[in-house]
Amino acid sequence: MTIIYYGHSCFGVTINGKNLLFDPYISPNPLAKSIDINAIPADYILVSHGHGDHVADVVSIAKRTGAKLICTPEVGHWFEKQGVSNICAMNTGGKIKLDFGNVKCVKAEHSSSMPDGSYGGNPLGFVIESSEGNFYYAGDTALTYDMKLIGDYRHINFAFLPIGDNYTMGIDNAIIATEFINCKDIIGMHYDTFEIIKINHEEAINKFSQAGKKLTLMQIGETINKEQVSSNNKHLAAKN
Ligand code: NI
Ligand code: MN
Repeated sequence: MTIIYYGHSCFGVTINGKNLLFDPYISPNPLAKSIDINAIPADYILVSHGHGDHVADVVSIAKRTGAKLICTPEVGHWFEKQGVSNICAMNTGGKIKLDFGNVKCVKAEHSSSMPDGSYGGNPLGFVIESSEGNFYYAGDTALTYDMKLIGDYRHINFAFLPIGDNYTMGIDNAIIATEFINCKDIIGMHYDTFEIIKINHEEAINKFSQAGKKLTLMQIGETINKEQVSSNNKHLAAKN
């Protein structure tokens, strides 16, 4: 499994040869100006909610790639009106089996409206289960006790958590979230893009480290390999 960071909450994750793209917000983000959105591969685009900082490049990437858009029915209808046709509408609690693995929609404690103010349905988080490992993409969310349900019933190898505070949980609550989901390996998101969510990287990494967790803050454009995920997963599968 490989992960590439496109800035803010946007990541590309390649699993079993399929490219998943989460919350594309690239072209309006000055921090991500090195990214060529026309070169981003996508077989699936997963959209957590309708806010502009999660959907800005959905239409152009969906139309270019023909990727399947996974989102709530409300978000899907909005994109349908803009000519996006390959839509898989899901909602909180729902799970689907796809060619790379499973996608389960989980609760996010947030709000969701589209850039024009129309209703965006429930905000979502996603749990991805695959033969290359399992991960949790939290979307925009507060710390919520519902996160315990995510970690209690499966092993989460790593998680993408928002840490920028103000609009979502911040660093201290994200550390508590790692306990709820029972996962030590965290990739930070939703920080630095705007003045109000700027964080001190060293302080954030140290706080996680003092709590016995690992926080990775990826460079925009950086790719990391989660090779170790599959072996961990086999080990745990064998134990259970
Ligand atoms: Ni939001
Ligand atoms: Mn946001």
